[in-house]
Amino acid sequence: MYLDDIPLQRGTLFAAVYDSPIAHGKIISLDINEASQSPGVIKVIAAKDIPGENQIGGIVPDEELLAHEHVHFCGMPIVLVIAETEEFAREAAKKVKAVIEPLHVITDPREAKAKNELIIPPRTFRCGDVAQAWKECQHVFSGRADSNGQEHLYIETQGAYAIPMENNSIRIFSSTQGPTAVQRCCARVLGYPMHRIEVDVTRLGGGFGGKEDQANAWAALCALGVHHVKRPVKFSLHRMEDMRMTGKRHPYSSDYKIGLDKNLKIIAYEVDFYQNAGAAADLSPAVLERTLFHCTNSYFIPNVRATAYSCRTHLPPNTAFRGFGGPQGMFVIESAIAKAAEEIGVHPDEIQKKNLIQTGDKFPYGQSAVSDAVECWNEAEKIYDVRKIRKEVETFNSKNFLFKKGMAFIPICFGISFTKTLMNQARALVHIYTDGSVSVATGAVEMGQGINTKILQVASKIFSLSPAKVRIQPTSTDKIANTSPSAASSTADLNGKATMMACEKLLERLKQRAAEELKTTPEKISIKDEFVYSNDEKTKLTWKDLVMLTYVSRISLSEHAHYATPEINFDLTKEKGHPFAYHVYGTAILIATIDCLRGTYEFDAVKVVHDIGSGMSPMVDLGQCEGGIVQGIGWMTMEEIVYDKDGRLRSNALSTYKVPDVYSVPKEISVKFLENDNNNLAVFRSKAVGEPPLMYGIGAFFALRNAIKAFNPAARPVFSSPMTPEKVLMSLHKKPVAEVQKTI
Ligand code: MTE
Ligand code: HPA
Ligand code: MOS
Repeated sequence: MYLDDIPLQRGTLFAAVYDSPIAHGKIISLDINEASQSPGVIKVIAAKDIPGENQIGGIVPDEELLAHEHVHFCGMPIVLVIAETEEFAREAAKKVKAVIEPLHVITDPREAKAKNELIIPPRTFRCGDVAQAWKECQHVFSGRADSNGQEHLYIETQGAYAIPMENNSIRIFSSTQGPTAVQRCCARVLGYPMHRIEVDVTRLGGGFGGKEDQANAWAALCALGVHHVKRPVKFSLHRMEDMRMTGKRHPYSSDYKIGLDKNLKIIAYEVDFYQNAGAAADLSPAVLERTLFHCTNSYFIPNVRATAYSCRTHLPPNTAFRGFGGPQGMFVIESAIAKAAEEIGVHPDEIQKKNLIQTGDKFPYGQSAVSDAVECWNEAEKIYDVRKIRKEVETFNSKNFLFKKGMAFIPICFGISFTKTLMNQARALVHIYTDGSVSVATGAVEMGQGINTKILQVASKIFSLSPAKVRIQPTSTDKIANTSPSAASSTADLNGKATMMACEKLLERLKQRAAEELKTTPEKISIKDEFVYSNDEKTKLTWKDLVMLTYVSRISLSEHAHYATPEINFDLTKEKGHPFAYHVYGTAILIATIDCLRGTYEFDAVKVVHDIGSGMSPMVDLGQCEGGIVQGIGWMTMEEIVYDKDGRLRSNALSTYKVPDVYSVPKEISVKFLENDNNNLAVFRSKAVGEPPLMYGIGAFFALRNAIKAFNPAARPVFSSPMTPEKVLMSLHKKPVAEVQKTI
């Protein structure tokens, strides 16, 4: 049941917006007369009609729901139209007449930085003494690396459906990762207390971070409609509206300087990150922070200075996207290493391997590594027989002229926890009904990542109950309050642990009751496959009987538990602490083949060793790995977001924005889960898997780059992703094109 599958109540109206045609300007006049008189229109709503605050900024209050005096990006909603049908609403929106005086448009984060257009003050992570360290370096290189944005392209576009309820309250079905964020935002815009807004989510057709914060606006617009017309209002964006009006992964432009000693140990690293935040903060400050956390990827570097600038431009506010700024930080250190290797004349993996972080080493932010980075790397080398792969690539390249192969290693390291410590909490509400069936409600949102399967596993495992007897409820703010969004790969850890706690408390009570019945002590009682065991001997007492006995004794069969990740902390004044419950590691080897006439390419294989702790749902986790890898490769290769200098999105449809399809999926994706006994804070020690695999995709850029260099050793393709076929073609033949032609 997705948003569009919800049967509509009689009297439902539809919303559409008139959104800004230019990226930056002053609204001189707004004429809604013609729109108001358009067929089927019930109400036209502008900023002045907002009863509460015209403000949807979550971290920084810098984003209006409806533009009042200025517009800050192409696609910024200005007027909301409510009409009898979707078509009437969209037709009427076209009839709004706005005179907007154009102002200077910034699309480049470096220009924004130069003009001091920053969302928040810059942040710097430091460790060691970089200035001193340069003196000890044998090799020092500097350069620039750029990574582009990425469209989320969830299959289900953004949308909401708001229904007026009794006592002036509103029920909102929203396609959101953050039901509480939607509730808070709607309450703020309407000036209602939060208890008058209920937000319900059954599942999403994908979120990928795009609905962590950016589902809010559409829900608030529907709620605003309900407030004014007292009828249900639905808004479901068309694909091109969604692409035009919502933010994406943040593009980054970065400058780095890297220093190595004679043994190829990286001893100093300096980096400046220019994040293209778009026109408002949205989640950019948190994304920026994660870029800093992951600026050294899986490597130990003793002297680091990393500074990040969140730059305000006139693009739609960019937002969370799988990896949350981490991949952007990792792309830069990987570029720096590739550059160093190229200049020194060694394989990049020689430098990568020598610098992997080891247990006890400290990340620049002070947390010590409990590391399986080396183990994953070594295991990958071993089980995938890297010497053989290298040989095959070399042989292929020596025998073929117009096709070349390239391989690359990519180790990953990703911190698990919301970087904002307070967000690491969750609750679960578990009911056992008198027939022995169980209902579990948490704040977790199912978006395709398999969270419902995992929560179901937790409850059925603790109760030793058939999964068919457990039901996972749709997510709702009136069942579970004050939830963090389903994000940061932490949903299963947080909500799974809360579920575990609630189930364990219930189990304790049931055992107590069983002990009374069987005239023994609770420690002697266990429940297995729906039977009660006393002293490990099966009794006649079933789960169902025990539940009924407990109920008859007037003992509660419901439990609400709260989990807060222990041990984590972060001191913002020092930029040091222990922000993550644990890290996830892994290593991938990617092999690509390029067609040197056409610039097109294929991925022969992605071979992965992935640190999983102790696998709880191997098929779900494999799905996350495969999906993440393909999405990461898409970001690094074919997905090219193009805004023109006026801030207008040119790659605004699926004809101009290419995402991986079944033909571009690597021919082989092998994933070996590295299991170990190390203690960790994951639910059943099964480590978070949602985001980390995307970062294996970074290897795609470097595999392609190496293939280009196999064709043309003099080529120095710039570190600018995505590596589209056009770019491959241009860099293949850049300098010695005449010679190449001669040989052909
Ligand atoms: N997988 C699917 N199929 N659909 C999604 O939207 N989102 C990703 C990842 N995997 C996503 C997905 C992102 S951005 C995150 S943070 C995690 O799932 C969130 O879920 P988790 O915390 O349960 O891993
Ligand atoms: N990841 C994802 N979403 C977030 C985070 C994070 O670390 N912090 C705040 N929102
Ligand atoms: Mo994921 S980017 O944390 O929603």
